[in-house]
Amino acid sequence: MVSVVEELVGRRKGYRFLRVRRCDGLKGEVRVSGAKNAALPLLAASLLVERFELENFPVLLDTLYALRILELLGREVELLPGRVSVKGGISSVRIPYEISSLFRGSLLFLGGLLGAVGRAEVAHPGGCAIGSRPIDQHLKFLSHIGAEVELEGGFVKVKLPPEPKARAFTFDLITVTGTENALLTLAGLRGEFELHNAALEPEVLDLVEFLKKLGLEVEVKGRSFLVRSPGRENLKREVSHRTIPDRIEAGTFLVAGALLGEPLTVKGLEVSHLGAVLEKLREAGAEPEVLSPSEVRIRRVERPRALEVQTAPYPGFPTDMQAQFMAMLTLADGVSLIVENIFENRFQHALELARLGASVEVRGKTAIVRGVERLKGAPVNATDLRASAALVLAGLVAEGETVVGKIGHLLRGYEDLDGKLRRLGCDAELF
Ligand code: EPZ
Repeated sequence: MVSVVEELVGRRKGYRFLRVRRCDGLKGEVRVSGAKNAALPLLAASLLVERFELENFPVLLDTLYALRILELLGREVELLPGRVSVKGGISSVRIPYEISSLFRGSLLFLGGLLGAVGRAEVAHPGGCAIGSRPIDQHLKFLSHIGAEVELEGGFVKVKLPPEPKARAFTFDLITVTGTENALLTLAGLRGEFELHNAALEPEVLDLVEFLKKLGLEVEVKGRSFLVRSPGRENLKREVSHRTIPDRIEAGTFLVAGALLGEPLTVKGLEVSHLGAVLEKLREAGAEPEVLSPSEVRIRRVERPRALEVQTAPYPGFPTDMQAQFMAMLTLADGVSLIVENIFENRFQHALELARLGASVEVRGKTAIVRGVERLKGAPVNATDLRASAALVLAGLVAEGETVVGKIGHLLRGYEDLDGKLRRLGCDAELF
């Protein structure tokens, strides 16, 4: 029996292209969906409880893949309009390569399984277009607490000790899913633990809020988490939660508004998660108006001012917004510098933007973007999730028509982007 989830995945996998045309008069209101990168750790955390409800759930490929993993682990998944419920037991601790290799978020089920049952066998998700994406920090944490960690046949096999061998750990570098995997693992281990040099992304802190509902005490001090768990057998059995808004989708639409807004109002966002992005939009000459803590209106700017952009861990400028800003800066009045400090290979969109007439020179981790007067539509190919968003933005402002190929990358991380653009008056068609 094909599950509802597999049917929804199949429908999305059928699309290859997104066609967009220049969209003068992009105006109206758009509501952002729940955050993909919050929903993924929460779905992994759902293994810790018998019954789980998640509202504001974004239906997109990565979250559908995550639901498929839960089904393979024995859980009963029910997708309802805007929310998902998960219940039942866990009948397996093994996540096969064919599904874990589809998205990096699969790695979070390592922590979810370890927290829930103390054992896990997860196929290494592998790298992706933006970099090798090593998992050394995830494994270093597990070894540090005394877990048996075995790498065999492309699988990471882990068995937790009944008690952690240490009560503190410091990450060598700031890692979002590394921090989340550590929190998920600690949720199942009774007692206190200190995590240092942790990631503070809103999605990490939303996971912390969820774990507190289960009965964990978590104190956040700077980049340190002081965690106290009652142990997996004493966690709450049933819990519901609401996914925070997707700050990257919100940022993507705000860039669309800075390029074309007549005006555009982005609703359902969380202004406090967008400090660095709003700051950079102001620096570029766009004047985002904060109408409320969840609503920003933005109007097109004649010509964006050239900028220097440095990506950094939250609350710095998000690496997941770098490609979208590059698309905007290709039309800036001057030369912009974009420095990608998080991933070693996250400028592949530069080559595709050049096909639309952009002038971008990549030197190591710096991209030099010389603003041009206009872009001209052309066929391009997506290389990774946020690169595909950048190409859609460029296609909306380029003269004529742009067809973005390998559009599966976009469908992994955006819910109904084409529908949202059509409702704003743009030509956008998936095929
Ligand atoms: C998360 O990836 C996000 N994914 C990414 O979003 C996001 O770009 C990234 O954080 C940075 O904000 C999810 O949350 C599912 P990292 P993650 O571990 O956790 C290196 C998107 O577009 N590193 O914070 O995999 C790593 O190579 C995606 O939605 C190690 O060296 O990123 C990178 O250079 C793309 N060893 C840096 O740290 C490790 O063990 C930050 O990576 C782990 C990471």
